Amino acid sequence: MTQKDSEPRYTEAGIATFIEKGGMEDIDDIFTFLKSRYPDTYQGVTPELTREIVSSHAESEDYRIRATAGFKEYLSNADKGAIFVARRGREVVGYSTAFIDAEGKHWMRDLYTFPQGIGTGRKLLGAVLDWHQQHQSRGDNDIYLWVAPKTRAVRFYFHQGFRLSGEYGGSTWESGKHLPLIEMRLPVLKTR
Ligand SMILES: CC(C)(COP(=O)(O)OP(=O)(O)OC[C@H]1O[C@@H](n2cnc3c(N)ncnc32)[C@H](O)[C@@H]1OP(=O)(O)O)[C@@H](O)C(=O)NCCC(=O)NCCS
Repeated sequence: MTQKDSEPRYTEAGIATFIEKGGMEDIDDIFTFLKSRYPDTYQGVTPELTREIVSSHAESEDYRIRATAGFKEYLSNADKGAIFVARRGREVVGYSTAFIDAEGKHWMRDLYTFPQGIGTGRKLLGAVLDWHQQHQSRGDNDIYLWVAPKTRAVRFYFHQGFRLSGEYGGSTWESGKHLPLIEMRLPVLKTR
């Protein structure tokens, strides 16, 4: 059963924003939110990633299937993953995910917010770090994430204590376009 935290975490313009632990019933709302954030997030990361290309990828059935399968995997074992959703009223204003992979590596897999710059990102990151703190297998696991280079998010993560791990990767879309990603790592001592 999904554990919901119903205590308001902060209030902006008179409407409370809640950080909740998401469940299967939240997946459609989360994916709709993710799709809406894709163009602003990834447009222009490379010259070939035009707004049209990024939007068309976000709207594709292939992407919907892959993204929702990922969410289901994070929720399939409460000891291995979790999704945190920020809602303002019933509206999704952000989400993030925590995941421990088959090799025992601890991840924050997604973090998206809108509106930005009002504290939602920091609070979602805090929820993910708390989750990892409670699920440390060795007691000293660092936290990893992938992020697109040269984006506002990279500066945000630096500000929060993450550093480049030196690993580079990316994802190649069904259109053949490539989204480059860089890995960042939060040393465990910085998680509190
Ligand atoms: C990156 C992102 C999640 C940040 O969330 P946000 O809600 O805007 O961040 P917050 O308002 O909580 O800001 C938190 C802190 O980071 C700082 N910050 C935010 N953006 C920053 C930036 N570009 N450079 C430096 N610091 C920044 C804020 O000043 C604040 O500092 P404080 O904790 O000292 O008060 C959000 O901008 C986003 O959704 N970006 C697009 C999606 C994306 O690229 N996600 C990462 C890939 S998974």
